[in-house]
Amino acid sequence: TLENRSVEAVGRMLKALEKRGEEGERGERVVVMTGAGISTSAGIPDFRSPTTGLYANLARLNLPYAEAVFDIAYFRNNPLPFYTLAQELYPGKYRPTITHSFIRLLHDKGILLKLFTQNIDCLEREAGVPGDKIVEAHGSFARQSCIECKTAYPEQGMKDAIREKRVPRCVDKACNGLVKPEIVFFGEQLPAEFFANRDLPTQAHLCIVMGTSLSVQPFAGLPALCREETPRVLLNMEQVGGIGSRPDDVLVLGDCDAGVRKLAEAAGWLEELEALWART
Ligand code: APR
Repeated sequence: TLENRSVEAVGRMLKALEKRGEEGERGERVVVMTGAGISTSAGIPDFRSPTTGLYANLARLNLPYAEAVFDIAYFRNNPLPFYTLAQELYPGKYRPTITHSFIRLLHDKGILLKLFTQNIDCLEREAGVPGDKIVEAHGSFARQSCIECKTAYPEQGMKDAIREKRVPRCVDKACNGLVKPEIVFFGEQLPAEFFANRDLPTQAHLCIVMGTSLSVQPFAGLPALCREETPRVLLNMEQVGGIGSRPDDVLVLGDCDAGVRKLAEAAGWLEELEALWART
């Protein structure tokens, strides 16, 4: 089928980039863009899948609309729904998926230029992708601070508050503002690091997009920044973001864990990938 031929072509490209890296030329030419779909098989719900997505299951928090749970204006007025959800989302209880290990393998083979992720679960780091290769476009739970005066808040204090479903307040009692993990809420700016790296897709020789609906800007605009001659490979349950509109686009629709196994097999890396994931 067209898909099989394309997957074989992508496999050949991955091997060629690996070879360039071994010959000392800059092999780091693969840019990866990911969303919540790569963590669903780890047990973390995504946001917009019809029945299993987070936004379909927040009724118990009686929000005016689902995305309010991540809206900064709503949070200021009522932080409790977020802190109720934070307990489920807080990193540390989940194992990376084989898709996270595939991204780590790209780095180990010296061909990962940059991973742009929308996820806040830190599973990329846990899979062994080095921090300097990751742009957490929507922030993460790694740090927390007061939303009024920006004073940092201690990590242990945050963990205690989340465990006890308390809403932590600023360490400066004169301020007493609400504390929030540095996750990018709707209405907030993305981290400077996102904008500092936004030209990288133009340098990519291969772009791999996985597990995202590409429905939130400005992240959703990243794949379109790739040059016309750069193949864009989509590993996703559904076709999204206009990927498939260019002649060199490759669609590998379905579960991304199955998709990365297909790419790894086409590159001759499947055994290595399974062994790497087994150690994760
Ligand atoms: N394999 C492949 N695709 C999957 C899988 C899977 N196992 N599970 C889910 N998907 C797909 C869904 O079909 C959907 O297209 O992943 C995509 C997930 O989309 P969203 O739930 O919208 O998640 P995401 O794209 O990361 O959301 C973007 O929205 O709520 C904000 O800030 C939040 O970062 C988030 C942003």
